[in-house]
Amino acid sequence: MSDSEGRVVGYVFARVAAGEAEVLNLAVDPEHRLRGVGRSLLEEIIDRVARRGASLLFLEVRASNTEAQAFYRKMGFRQVGRRPNYYDRPREDALILAREI
Ligand SMILES: CC(C)(COP(=O)(O)OP(=O)(O)OC[C@H]1O[C@@H](n2cnc3c(N)ncnc32)[C@H](O)[C@@H]1OP(=O)(O)O)[C@@H](O)C(=O)NCCC(=O)NCCS
Repeated sequence: MSDSEGRVVGYVFARVAAGEAEVLNLAVDPEHRLRGVGRSLLEEIIDRVARRGASLLFLEVRASNTEAQAFYRKMGFRQVGRRPNYYDRPREDALILAREI
């Protein structure tokens, strides 16, 4: 997503396989946070994966990333699992979040 002058303010990557979708990465430029950019990106991706037949959307988030977790909860995700020591540098668990589409 770009601003009116063409600068990128946020991006999202996702994939769909076998009726399930996964958000691989989502980030908003720090100067543009808390203005609805993340919500717009996620709503756009939900729309796109729904059109490709996905009914569940998953993602992983660092256990310490409470800001992103607050965002995802607002966006209707709930925790469905945990992957111990999933991340490196620093080593940390991943929470698995999901929402129905
Ligand atoms: C998580 C992130 C994408 C949110 O993007 P954003 O553009 O700031 O989010 P929005 O402005 O669209 O917020 C949508 C809702 O989430 C809430 N929210 C967003 N960030 C929040 C935070 N840090 N704490 C609490 N609530 C938050 C907003 O208040 C808003 O709720 P509302 O509609 O009731 O007002 C952004 O903080 C980010 O890029 N973080 C760093 C990268 C990251 O952690 N990505 C996720 C890795 S899996």
